[in-house]
Amino acid sequence: MSFVKVAAISDLWDGEMKPCIVAGRKVLLVRIEGEVYAYDDRCAHLGVPLSEGRLDQGVLTCSAHHYQYDARSGHGLNPKSVHLLSHSVRTEQGHILVEVSAKTREKPSAASDSAPEPVECAPQTKPDRVGPVLEIGETAQAIIAAIRELNADVTIVDKGAYARVLVPTKCIVTRESIERLLGRPFCLPGDLEIVMPSFKGALAVTEGQAVWSTGARR
Ligand code: FES
Repeated sequence: MSFVKVAAISDLWDGEMKPCIVAGRKVLLVRIEGEVYAYDDRCAHLGVPLSEGRLDQGVLTCSAHHYQYDARSGHGLNPKSVHLLSHSVRTEQGHILVEVSAKTREKPSAASDSAPEPVECAPQTKPDRVGPVLEIGETAQAIIAAIRELNADVTIVDKGAYARVLVPTKCIVTRESIERLLGRPFCLPGDLEIVMPSFKGALAVTEGQAVWSTGARR
């Protein structure tokens, strides 16, 4: 078995997970603090896809009976006696490659078979929607409002503690707009970086504005 290209790195944001299929096998990609991990997309308990569960602070929680795993190691946290089947991962030229080892190539369980099929990961050359990930708070709300003012077709994906802002092709925000909505001075890039743990697209920042575009990947 050799490494297979499964997704663009820019399609898997920090703190998120994504199911895909590698050589006919359901695999879950997880990205934490820049590192990508790959596991069989099935809980060690009864095989329910972990992609239907939750990833929070590096902990994977199964949706069925709440088994929990360390997303960096695949080891069980609750209970500790279980572990996930892991696969080798490497990144190359902006893409994630996964190798399903012979040791872990086995028939999925009946529970896994009955679950909905994940979408095959299609490697992309560029993100089509770009923008920041913002930690929710007063500053983020002002930035989001400013982005809504200045861009068309803005999508906000609410993730609880943070929000993902997505705009087709190019997302622009100006310091003037943010300050007007915030009611106080706002410095670029410093104040933006404080509330932006990640972003999608290529970011260009001056003192007056920030622009995310499809020019390059992150
Ligand atoms: S199937 Fe995951 S906890 Fe039971």
